[in-house]
Parts: sequence; C-alpha cells; structure tokens
Amino acid sequence: MSCILVTGGCGFIGSNYIRMQLEKYPDQKVINVDKLTYAGNLENLKDHEDDPRYQFVKGDISDPALWKELFAKESINNVVNFAAESHVDRSILDSGPFVQTNIVGTQILLDACRSAKIDRYLQVSTDEVYGSLGTEGYFTEETPLAPNSPYSASKTSADLLVRSYVKTFGFPAIITRCSNNYGPYQFPEKLIPLFISNAMNDISLPVYGKGDNVRDWIHVDDHCRGIDDSLRKGKVGEVYNFGGHHEVQNIELTKTLLELLGKPESLITYVKDRPGHDMRYAIDSSKAENELGWKSEIDFRDGIRETIDWYQKNSDWTDNIKSGDYMNYYESQYGDRLSGQ
Ligand code: NAD
Ligand code: DAU
Repeated sequence: MSCILVTGGCGFIGSNYIRMQLEKYPDQKVINVDKLTYAGNLENLKDHEDDPRYQFVKGDISDPALWKELFAKESINNVVNFAAESHVDRSILDSGPFVQTNIVGTQILLDACRSAKIDRYLQVSTDEVYGSLGTEGYFTEETPLAPNSPYSASKTSADLLVRSYVKTFGFPAIITRCSNNYGPYQFPEKLIPLFISNAMNDISLPVYGKGDNVRDWIHVDDHCRGIDDSLRKGKVGEVYNFGGHHEVQNIELTKTLLELLGKPESLITYVKDRPGHDMRYAIDSSKAENELGWKSEIDFRDGIRETIDWYQKNSDWTDNIKSGDYMNYYESQYGDRLSGQ
C-alpha cells in the first residue's frame, strides 16, 4: 500500500483533498500532520476518522523531531504541503506566525523529506506570489514574483526554497499556484464563508474599499484535482497554475451571494480598505490544461449554490468556530472599521 503524507489536512483545502484521496485511491494510506491552529478543525474529516487507511498526527511542520520519528516509522512515498498561515488580513496584524510556519516550517519539512528520500513533494502555493494585475492580462508560470502582503511574501519565500532544493539537491518537487478557492469547510474569515454566515444572521457584510477588486474563483474540488494531477503526472521542477476562469469584482460577488440567500443589499457596508490590497488576480491555466489534461469543471453558479446550501445545512460547524477565539479576531479586524465609517 502506498502512503501519502498531507500537512495542514485539517484546514479547508487540505481536508477536501484528503477526502478526495481516500475516495479515489482505495489502496493508499493517508497520514495527516496538522498543528490544529485556529484554522485546523478535526470535525472537517470526522466522516473518515475511523477509516483504517487514515491516520491523524497532531504536529507542527517546523518540528524536526516529529519528522525524524515519523519518517523512521512510516514508509512515505509522497508529501503534499498545505500547512500554512493562510489569511492575508492576519498577516497584516502579525506576520510572525507566517514567517515561522510558511518559511521556516517549509524549510524544515524539505530537509526531512530530502533525508527520507521521498518520491515526490508538492508545495501548495498561491497566485498571490505574482502580485497584482491591472485591468488586462493573466498570471502565467513565467510572471515575475512580486508579492505585496506579508502572507504572499512568506509563500513566495517558501516557493523559492523549494525551487532551490530542486536546483541544488535534485529534490523531486513540484509547485502549484492556484487562485481563490471556495467550497465547504472554508474558515469563515475568508470573503465567501464570512459573507454567507453574516448574511444568514442579518449581520452587515464588510466590503473593503469600493469593492472593485477582482478575484478569480475556483471550486476547491477543481483545485484538489489539479494538485493530484500535478503530483501524479507533473514534471519535477515545474510550476503549474490553476484558476477557475471566473473573474468577478468583490461587490458583484457580494450581490450574487445576497441574491442567492434572499437577503437585501442594504446589508452591504463599505469599510476601510485592506492595506496593500491587490487589485486583480486572474490565472492562465493553459500549461496545466495542455500538459496535465486538467480543466476546471465546476461552473461557478452551480458551485456557489452548493456551497451556500452546505453552509445552511451545517450552521453548527460555523457556530462552533464562532464560539471560540474567532470573535476576538473579528473584533480586532472589523471593530474600528465598522464603527469608523
Ligand atoms: P487553512 O487556513 O484553512 O488551513 C491551514 C491548515 O494548516 C490548518 O489546518 C492549520 O491547523 C494547519 N497549520 C497551520 N500551521 C501549521 C504548522 N505549523 N504545522 C502543521 N499544520 C499547520 O488554509 P487553506 O485555505 O486550506 O490553504 C491551504 C494551503 O493552500 C495554504 O498553503 C495556502 O497558502 C494555499 N492556498 C490557499 C488558497 C485559498 O483560496 N484558500 C488558494 C491557493 C493556495
Ligand atoms: O488567491 C489565492 C488566495 O486567496 C490564497 O492564497 C489565500 O490563502 C486566500 O485567503 C485568498 O486570499 P484573498 O485575500 O484574495 O481572500 P479573502 O477571502 O481574504 O478576500 C477576497 C477579496 O475580498 C479580497 O479582495 C479582499 C476582499 N474582502 C475580504 C474580506 C475578508 C472584503 O472586501 N471584505 C472582507 O471582509
């Protein structure tokens, strides 16, 4: 039985990826190493916790002793690194954990994987490493790296470390860079789950600036398929971009969410903009389409309806999160902005 190690598997994309792996590959063991930060939630994989092919290990990717023990005990073939601090606004409040996990953690994991001589390593990166676009053009894999937030700077640094391990040590790594994901189990600090949850509770939706920033939305299942295709069919040393071909201004997206939820546009509140706010992201996925045979398959309108439906049916999941530390963050992030308008 082959074995894949997934880090950050209790977060949004990692948990969707593990579910997909367990369903798609009956003869594969999946080990999930997650620190269970505020964003990690064991409930995300509750439906698989008794599966004998699945093993959860609570641990920090920056802990060399953890890797020493785990690699000595298990025969791990492939590693997919999702573990990260992932929210731009939090990186503006405090960049320390971003440097520690996203950069130092990646370096420690890379060294452990190199010593263990694994078959393949995949670094889950982001289109934010390319910076911001104007009204025209797309990010390709050749676009120069120009991160603008502490979050994207930390992800870029990790990508450069991965690249250097390929060049210097012949380490068998691949990097994927994807646009904004949406879908079930996304932590309600990100735009889509935050606005769904606020609207469901008749709380105002804080749109940054004029709401004219553009993001390219992709369903998490399409992203997970792209990661799987890259790991299994991609070439070592290559970068693959993934996007959803669904570019939309934040304000337009906000109005669509309200329309689908049957809530009034009067819930929209324009708040102070995010510092250094990237104006537009748009991905050219043609390399992945041509070389991996990948294509984004989920139509945004269908995917977002399904996602809203999931949040409506799983309001306990969001309520459990909101009863913890999350409200302190919400207050420090939005308290002044909402009252200062
Ligand atoms: P998330 O915040 O929902 O989950 C991150 C997970 O990593 C959590 O389970 C957390 O507990 C875990 N983690 C954090 N620090 C850790 C550490 N030191 N050791 C072990 N585990 C740790 O994030 P997400 O949205 O699922 O993103 C996953 C990855 O995908 C990240 O690397 C992110 O940069 C990348 N990405 C995200 C998007 C997006 O739209 N969300 C798009 C492109 C790329
Ligand atoms: O592009 C990929 C990236 O997408 C990932 O690498 C990140 O991990 C992920 O968080 C996401 O980053 P964004 O900053 O684009 O996502 P977020 O959901 O935070 O914001 C989406 C847009 O909505 C952005 O233009 C900021 C805006 N926004 C966000 C929040 C939370 C608001 O207007 N109001 C809000 O309250």
